[in-house]
Amino acid sequence: MDGHSSSGPVTVLLLAALTSSALGQSPLYFEEGKPLVLTPPKHKDVITSVVWTHNTSLVVEWRNNELEFYRSFKGRTELDQSTAQLTVHNATQSDAGEYTVEINNRQQSQVYTAKVIKRVTKPKVVVRTLTCGPTSSKCNFTCQGESAGAQPLTYSWKKDSGEWEPEQQSMDLFFNDTKTKRVKQISCRMKNPISEEESDPLYNPMYNKGLLSQGELAAVICSPIIVVVLAGLGLLIDP
Ligand SMILES: *[C@@H]1O[C@H](CO)[C@@H](O)[C@H](O)[C@H]1NC(C)=O
Ligand SMILES: *[C@@H]1O[C@H](CO)[C@@H](O)[C@H](O)[C@H]1NC(C)=O
Ligand SMILES: *[C@@H]1O[C@H](CO)[C@@H](O)[C@H](O)[C@H]1NC(C)=O
Ligand SMILES: *[C@@H]1O[C@H](CO)[C@@H](O)[C@H](O)[C@H]1NC(C)=O
Repeated sequence: MDGHSSSGPVTVLLLAALTSSALGQSPLYFEEGKPLVLTPPKHKDVITSVVWTHNTSLVVEWRNNELEFYRSFKGRTELDQSTAQLTVHNATQSDAGEYTVEINNRQQSQVYTAKVIKRVTKPKVVVRTLTCGPTSSKCNFTCQGESAGAQPLTYSWKKDSGEWEPEQQSMDLFFNDTKTKRVKQISCRMKNPISEEESDPLYNPMYNKGLLSQGELAAVICSPIIVVVLAGLGLLIDP
């Protein structure tokens, strides 16, 4: 036993990991119950045989003009023989995993990592702080929705009719300054690679009527100008 022989497999594994990441094999997301479609890059030669494999088991074999689908793929799978595109209808969680394809008896280098996930459902803004009111210095809010089977999820928040804030991993929002007391309504959005849904707006328990909202603030600033302009016009029309 020498030290060198044991490093062999490790190096191979590292190389394999590097190669797969270098090829940019980020996962492909599909909706549960919808078709899972894998499209190999355009092939330069006429395609005469195709073999798709899922997690090392056969999906479909097309050789010598004979087409055979295997196991759970029977009856719900199509193969486009001219492009080698694979379509699996009614995708389920067990269709997730790694797909590889052999075209014209040559194993293609790309590994297709398929994920089958659920659409997000409409979320709800929930106040997590027990006592949250106009005098509270800070409150926590959560964007609550069904997350099982819908990962990876991101969340975004909107205050009144403002813009959606950047997507974040956390479902929580912390409200802790006077600016947030001018916000009347808060909405949240839940998003995953195949879908997104917005909540109904929630009345902000921290909203402080004593402070003007951004809209009202603008109105107050603008109104004297309008009065002045109107007065000016009035003077011109009615000498
Ligand atoms: C899709 O698969 C589910 C679960 O296996 C099954 O209940 C449903 O009937 C299938 N739908 C179609 C259209 O094949
Ligand atoms: C294939 O592998 C994926 C990921 O490990 C797994 O989620 C899926 O259930 C597997 N499916 C089958 C049929 O082995
Ligand atoms: C609000 O969020 C902060 C940060 O996660 C946490 O430390 C705190 O306990 C939360 N408060 C409530 C009332 O949920
Ligand atoms: C308010 O919350 C933000 C983000 O959670 C934090 O960075 C900031 O320091 C907090 N400010 C106060 C006054 O607590």
